[in-house]
Amino acid sequence: MCGICAGIGSENQIEKVVRGLKKLEYRGYDSCGLAYINETKNLEIVKCVGGTENLENRIDKTDFSNVVIGHTRWATHGTVCEENAHPHISFDGQFAIVHNGIVENFEELKKQVDVQLKSQTDTEVLVNLICKQSGTTLEKICNACQKVVGSFAIALIENGKDEIFFARRGSPLWIAADEKGVFAGSDISVFDKNFKKCFCLEDDEFAVASLKKVEFFEKNCKKIEKKSISVENVDFFDGFSDEQTFMLKEIKEQPIVLRKTCFNLFSSLDDAKICELKKFKKFHFVACGTAYHSCLMGCQFIKKFCKKQCEASVASEFRYADNVLSKNCLYVFVSQSGETADTIASARLVKDAGLSVMCVTNEPYCTLNSLADFVLPTFAGKEMAVASTKAYTAQVFSLLIFALRLGGETIQNTLKDFVQAFDCEFDVDKLCQLVLASQKVFFIGRGQDYVSSLEAALKLKEIAYINCLGMPAGELKHGTLALVDEKSLVVAISTQEKTKKKIESNILEVQARGGKVALISNLEHNVDVDLKLTLPNFEEFLMPIVSIVPLQLLAFEVCQRLGFDPDKPRNLAKSVTVE
Ligand code: M6R
Repeated sequence: MCGICAGIGSENQIEKVVRGLKKLEYRGYDSCGLAYINETKNLEIVKCVGGTENLENRIDKTDFSNVVIGHTRWATHGTVCEENAHPHISFDGQFAIVHNGIVENFEELKKQVDVQLKSQTDTEVLVNLICKQSGTTLEKICNACQKVVGSFAIALIENGKDEIFFARRGSPLWIAADEKGVFAGSDISVFDKNFKKCFCLEDDEFAVASLKKVEFFEKNCKKIEKKSISVENVDFFDGFSDEQTFMLKEIKEQPIVLRKTCFNLFSSLDDAKICELKKFKKFHFVACGTAYHSCLMGCQFIKKFCKKQCEASVASEFRYADNVLSKNCLYVFVSQSGETADTIASARLVKDAGLSVMCVTNEPYCTLNSLADFVLPTFAGKEMAVASTKAYTAQVFSLLIFALRLGGETIQNTLKDFVQAFDCEFDVDKLCQLVLASQKVFFIGRGQDYVSSLEAALKLKEIAYINCLGMPAGELKHGTLALVDEKSLVVAISTQEKTKKKIESNILEVQARGGKVALISNLEHNVDVDLKLTLPNFEEFLMPIVSIVPLQLLAFEVCQRLGFDPDKPRNLAKSVTVE
């Protein structure tokens, strides 16, 4: 679950590759590093624990290289330390490699290569396996890759040579070429804005890039001609100015994102498409993390507006479950990145069964979209912070519009008025103080508010490291109420008239046990609480988009006050590209 980037060309590639790595840090930031061929044609390695800012401090600014490979790591094999950071070199110092993926049979291959390893990584085994094969460098790589069980995208350089070798199985790898050279990376955001055409390396394909060109090969080393892809509508995102954190920036962008979604979605969901999708009798949503919460919300909308059966599954469960797949069902895979391993594997499973796949993604050129019969794009723009905020509201809003269109509801004007009025201004100071003064935090709600409680709890755990729980309000007294005491805070979300009285009862039950209560609601409630955060009033089905914003801000504020980095929470990566 890492990012790789590589450049070869007439200009100095070091800065370009570091800049590419910065854009890939969403794939992991435990450590990072570069390998390059220096001006005397020798292999140099610079690596460090932590993000690219640490790497920049280690690089000699006067160094020049035409041939550079780089890596940003999320640890899978071995702890976070410099020895385990990529690039890794072969025992003879001849080859350096960066790798994204997992070599599943690395213990077995380790015995085969039989060399003293410096790290605990599967990648060091792989570079030594390559080194020990016979033939040209390309043949060595092809042979070694045949022996690997697992996934990989690799870039490899050789001491003294102006070439970069690439291979891929399972993990994404994009390559762009022009008169200045060849550039490659785990996603296309690493390319300069001017790159209009690029190549997507497919599974079991190989590439060799030199200063002037790139050539492609099959696994038997036979040369192949590959068609380039025209790239459009990519958010290359170049804004690394550090005025504010990405998370706060992205929370504040939500009004614009909703306006864009409203404007664009009515055209992507044309009548013919809606007519085609209406034939499905059932829907099954599949995703991970925050995107799974969007799925739960999507299910509520489908049931409400389309009166059709709908269920949602966590992708890591779906892919190993005894699913009863049906041709009457539309399988919907939701993912910000479109690169989440479990979601992709689940979509493949449905695709392989010959059934219909719809993907709701935020990255137009992602792996998930390549499996889709129908793509519903979200218009959140590049999301950099690990904690998903604007992508979540974009997903929820898109799924709402999808359900409304499918259900034949014509409420375009309501939506237009909503996006004009929607803003993100909430004072969460008092709520933040209550959270910081509590030992336990529970978010409760019913129906759509239950889903929001799950999402609120995930945000607070993820960036503020607070052990909290989101749960259905009605479930409290089936066990969890035993945890509630005077050190507990229960945050109740209430946006639906039909469950308003029920939430009030739940609040009284918490208070009877000495627990503090914060109520987040747009409704008139007849109950005394420690804090009421009043939400602006919109149609009930729009309230999940409104109520989540103060809860995103809450997580952000608590995180800041505890002195943590909201953009790069510990142990996590934005895109979970391994199982
Ligand atoms: O890129 P995806 O939407 O597939 O990512 C799914 C989850 O990994 C992601 O939503 C994760 O839970 C977020 N970090 C939550 O804020």
